[in-house]
Amino acid sequence: MKEKLEVHETAFLISIFRASNEKLSKDAFAKLWYNTTSKLLAKDLIENVSEYESFTHCLRNRYFYETINELILKKEIEVIINFGCGFSMYPFLLDKTLTYIEIDKPDVIGYKKEKVLKWQEEKVLPQRDIHFIASNFKSGYETGLLAQILEIKEDKPSFILIEGVLFFLTKQETKTTFSLFDRIQLKGDYIGSVSYRKEMAKTKVFKRLIKLFKDQLSLGQQFNYQTISDDFYHDQSNYKLIDYQDYYSLSKLYSPLNAIDKQEDILNESMYLLQKIK
Ligand SMILES: C[S@@+](CC[C@H](N)C(=O)[O-])C[C@H]1O[C@@H](n2cnc3c(N)ncnc32)[C@H](O)[C@@H]1O
Repeated sequence: MKEKLEVHETAFLISIFRASNEKLSKDAFAKLWYNTTSKLLAKDLIENVSEYESFTHCLRNRYFYETINELILKKEIEVIINFGCGFSMYPFLLDKTLTYIEIDKPDVIGYKKEKVLKWQEEKVLPQRDIHFIASNFKSGYETGLLAQILEIKEDKPSFILIEGVLFFLTKQETKTTFSLFDRIQLKGDYIGSVSYRKEMAKTKVFKRLIKLFKDQLSLGQQFNYQTISDDFYHDQSNYKLIDYQDYYSLSKLYSPLNAIDKQEDILNESMYLLQKIK
């Protein structure tokens, strides 16, 4: 029987997609994470789920790259905290004067740290002020993680990013994570979040994704993915929703000649930008 792949394979997978069009994704370092297993999984996903997966993941990286960069230029943020950072490479794409906090499960963050330090020694990656933190957003992690983050962040303005992660968490875990964000941040700070809307679960393309994940990843056939309604974001009482994008709008913005039509069979994710108002 074929051995099942771990969830972190999805992080490698995203790097393969981002590397497919560096001009669009603005990620010139994603290719460093290339490996044969992920390349095969990427091929499988493109052939059996949606041919747009490379394109859409380039758009997602581009959106957060542009959004965060704009806030840096306006001097609105000094610390970027990436929850479930996987192998994304924002610290090396964005300004060197910022502080970056990268958080993921112990095995992923340990591997990322080891590789990043090696590539920095070899001068493949530039130096950055990066803090790697191991954490599992399942239960009882909040107090320890909050203390670790505050020690690094102090009272500097921050941007929290959580992309490609909420799909794997439960409703309660998501609520706990967002209330932790509220405790970390100050008025004026930002959250960038990605999730699937509820209606996506009814589509054929989404059902194909779930089948592929259940067949190929070690999530188990009982795996309960999460979709999130817009209300969840509107209901964050200390935050205001200031931007919403999906792959239809982002394709028009960053690649108008290849704008995705509403009829296309895509795994449409929603991007939310929130600002803390009190
Ligand atoms: C699809 S990848 C996305 C990675 C990255 N955010 C990106 O967009 O490139 C999902 C990431 O979420 C992390 N993750 C999933 N469940 C988690 C949990 N309970 N605690 C911490 N990290 C988790 C995985 O380890 C993986 O790196």
